[in-house]
Amino acid sequence: MAEHRSRWRRGGLGFAVAMTGFGVVFSGTVMVEGVPRPVAAPAADAVILPGVYTGTASCAECHRDEPEDVRGQTIGDENRIWSQSDPHSHGYKTLENDASKAIAEKMQIATPTESDRCLSCHAPTVPANMLHPEHFETGKAWKTREGIGCEMCHGPAGDWLEPHADENWTPTERKNRGAAGLLSEYKLIDTTHLPTRAEKCVSCHLKIDPEMVKAGHPPLEFELFAYSAYLWDEDYEMHWDEAAGDAALWAAGQAAAAKAATAQVQAWKNAGADATTAESLAAIYEKGKPIASKVTQQSFAPAACATAARELAAVGKTATNGLEMNIVGYGVSALGATALAGNEEAVDAFNDVAYELEEMVAEFDEQRAKRDELLEKMVAKFNEQRAKMVELLEKMATMAAGSAP
Ligand code: HEC
Ligand code: HEC
Ligand code: HEC
Ligand code: HEC
Repeated sequence: MAEHRSRWRRGGLGFAVAMTGFGVVFSGTVMVEGVPRPVAAPAADAVILPGVYTGTASCAECHRDEPEDVRGQTIGDENRIWSQSDPHSHGYKTLENDASKAIAEKMQIATPTESDRCLSCHAPTVPANMLHPEHFETGKAWKTREGIGCEMCHGPAGDWLEPHADENWTPTERKNRGAAGLLSEYKLIDTTHLPTRAEKCVSCHLKIDPEMVKAGHPPLEFELFAYSAYLWDEDYEMHWDEAAGDAALWAAGQAAAAKAATAQVQAWKNAGADATTAESLAAIYEKGKPIASKVTQQSFAPAACATAARELAAVGKTATNGLEMNIVGYGVSALGATALAGNEEAVDAFNDVAYELEEMVAEFDEQRAKRDELLEKMVAKFNEQRAKMVELLEKMATMAAGSAP
């Protein structure tokens, strides 16, 4: 079993948004004429959406460092934050480390940085016929080394790179077309639309090959609040100002996670693998779904969040491992943070309990491993004893046969 990573309270709950100065005005034009347009129905749950890709370097021109305030959002420093403090920018680098080599060896993959079985999520490679001719000179390949770049989450930018830099373009188009329209018309994934964001994230975060988990890959989990906040590592930094509330993020993530986790169960079964852990993970999300719907209908009022937190806490009773306990813990944290918003003293006390719980979660998988080991030994002993008794029975039968006339 893969080791448990302890994670869901580091940095505390309730996020202080870093204040950044206002700077340089955006400049620069981007040409998108004469671009091939692959036609295919867009869906946010594919890893590489069909479309025309301009590459992460095409964003840097305007999003590299000097941020400015755009209707309450700090825009302009995203490339710097992504390259320095976002786990996705080192997706490729991870494939060079010892942990990756160990996983690959068990799977008989010679070089993880060259295998599509690893690159498909850690550094998805866009085929040459989807590259924008002005951003990628003929013959120039997609830079796999950049890991998980901007367009993996925001969508292939061929159609929206130029217009979106116009003042107010995205908010206006969003209002007129909605998230579905932005996707179908421009291939722009609206990450502010939480169900769409969640669907995008789980396209990589809840679809693991059982063989890979067996080989030591971390089993995949996902929860939109904690994962959007990059909650557990102080070195991580979000490159956006989160407009959504903690409880709203949690609630929006449940349905997408349940759907992906259920698909994962089916895939594991189809592969003939033991789907027990995938099944119990899916069951946790399924139990969160009705709680999420109810608290959403109640507009995340503090009292409704408190009730939802209590209902979700009860789901912890059925958690079978640390990963599932984390999923529940993230949710109760999100709901609690929204219920207690503004009351600093109460949030501090709440966090203290969260710390205590987190420490126990870290021990939970150890206990489980010990339990499983003991159980295995006891079952072996039991079977051994039964075999001995069967031997005696057989001996008796033989003796009976021997003395029979
Ligand atoms: C020519 C400059 C320029 C380039 C190049 C550029 N951006 Fe932008 N981007 C902007 C400006 C300006 C805004 C704010 C526009 C506004 O007023 O809404 C913005 C806003 C955004 C937003 C927020 C949209 C919203 O309101 O939800 C995202 C996401 C974004 N850019 C992603 C990207 C990505 C990814 C790339 C590269 C593929 C990129 N940008 C390239 C200038 C640029
Ligand atoms: C193209 C696939 C892909 C998409 C899409 C994606 N991720 Fe990831 N994510 C990864 C991979 C691969 C890693 C591991 C990176 C590493 O450590 O090398 C990761 C790591 C993370 C981590 C750090 C995990 C840890 O253990 O520290 C967080 C948090 C995260 N992703 C959140 C998100 C969120 C939120 C979204 C959606 C907005 C998202 N991801 C979309 C592939 C993806
Ligand atoms: C289905 C998508 C997917 C595939 C395919 C995949 N990974 Fe991952 N990998 C992830 C995600 C997502 C994470 C982050 C998990 C988390 O922390 O929640 C991750 C995490 C890891 C980590 C731990 C990273 C860390 O910083 O601790 C290693 C090592 C790793 N992957 C190696 C590999 C190797 C080697 C392969 C190929 C054999 C591979 N991965 C294939 C999605 C994938
Ligand atoms: C793992 C997925 C992911 C990757 C990779 C990613 N983004 Fe984002 N981005 C998001 C999410 C989620 C948001 C928050 C929702 C929003 O405000 O649009 C966001 C927000 C933004 C915004 C709005 C900023 C704000 O303050 O609200 C800009 C601009 C942006 N991203 C640009 C980029 C650029 C440029 C890159 C590459 C260097 C990039 N993003 C890579 C997921 C991602």
